[in-house]
Amino acid sequence: MNKAVIGLQWGDEGKGKIVDYLSEDYDLVVRYQGGNNAGHTVIVDDNTYKLNLIPSGVIRGKICFLGQGVVLDPNHFYNEYNQISKKIKNPKVFLSSNISLILDYHKHLDRINERILNTKNKIGTTSKGIGPAYQDKVGRKSIKLHDLKSKEVIQEKLKSIKKFYDPILESFDESKINIDQTVHDLFIFYELVKELIIDNSLVKKEFKDKKILFEGAQGALLDLDHGSYPFVTSSNTVSSNIVIGSAFQVDYQTVGIFKAYATRVGNGPFPSELFDNVGEYIAEKGLEIGTVTKRKRRCGWLDLVSLKYSCEINQVKELCMTKADVLNNLSEIKVCKSYNKMKYDEVNFNESNILESLSLDDKDFEVFPSWGEIKNLSNFETLPENLKKFILYIENYLNIPIKIISLGPERSQTIIR
Ligand code: IMP
Repeated sequence: MNKAVIGLQWGDEGKGKIVDYLSEDYDLVVRYQGGNNAGHTVIVDDNTYKLNLIPSGVIRGKICFLGQGVVLDPNHFYNEYNQISKKIKNPKVFLSSNISLILDYHKHLDRINERILNTKNKIGTTSKGIGPAYQDKVGRKSIKLHDLKSKEVIQEKLKSIKKFYDPILESFDESKINIDQTVHDLFIFYELVKELIIDNSLVKKEFKDKKILFEGAQGALLDLDHGSYPFVTSSNTVSSNIVIGSAFQVDYQTVGIFKAYATRVGNGPFPSELFDNVGEYIAEKGLEIGTVTKRKRRCGWLDLVSLKYSCEINQVKELCMTKADVLNNLSEIKVCKSYNKMKYDEVNFNESNILESLSLDDKDFEVFPSWGEIKNLSNFETLPENLKKFILYIENYLNIPIKIISLGPERSQTIIR
């Protein structure tokens, strides 16, 4: 059965490590949304791999495919591909010809968008041009990978893009679009990567009968339609976008992945956020610094109310929990089980003002005693009793089994139940 690994929180749940781990049993690993706003650090033996666009299945030599739902920054992709080629011999990475490109003006527009918002409303984007690139896709302006075959096509498209955006760019003192330079750069890029591009109409034939692992980017609570709008990313991060963004109309089972606590980069509601030294401790011990922007992540307790919502919208059938080891030495560990004493027992992100005005108190949390150091992680039974209680409580609340428990960055620090 094909599988999808989907983040259930605000991203950074550890998808990179788990996709690397699971990809052993798959032929093809597919990204279907997002761009280089995502970032993974995967540690295998003594090697550290930093990836933004290329699925972490590349480390095991698996075929990797970026579907049409991805937005691709040519420079970034080329550098990442080069870097990975130094570590992995002949990486098998392919790109859908229907991918929309991120160009420099998208990054300028991303900055402008943030500048015009007042402090309270700023999204805190990764500044990678993601929102404006998807805006162009929806607005039918995107330059697609297949356009790069012809200088004339790129030129023609850029002429109308320039007419549309130059007045805005100029009025915010950002550089205007340089058509000649952009055509030149894109053409060079095309010559370098053309062997990797697969015509969209041939994708299914090319990868017929392959066992597929889909790698989600960001997390369900950042989904454009289901997340904490407007504090979201500009793509659909939920599993139902797989068929649209990947071009594979296949069945798959969804593994929902979550951290044993919660983090968020950027702005927006975060009901279980910690503002005390426990939050600081988790950030430090969990190395909670953004892989892409190096921003410090906001930290809080695991929020089961929003996790339940994410499981529902992604039709999650099994769970993977990561990083409980970060909480080992805390004297007590909490999980949020309700918002305002069950006044709200489910998430309504359509009213993010409600989420922002929540004031959680003790009754909204279940408290677990410390489980101390984890000395033996050979299987679930050998885990500390208090950690087992924590895991069983979450399973019971969500009514979904936690089948994978990751307790460190190495492949060997993974328990399968
Ligand atoms: P954008 O995707 O750069 O437009 O950023 C929109 C929001 O999504 C911001 O709050 C970002 O911090 C957040 N975001 C985007 N990508 C990631 C990710 O991979 N992990 C965590 N947060 C992300």
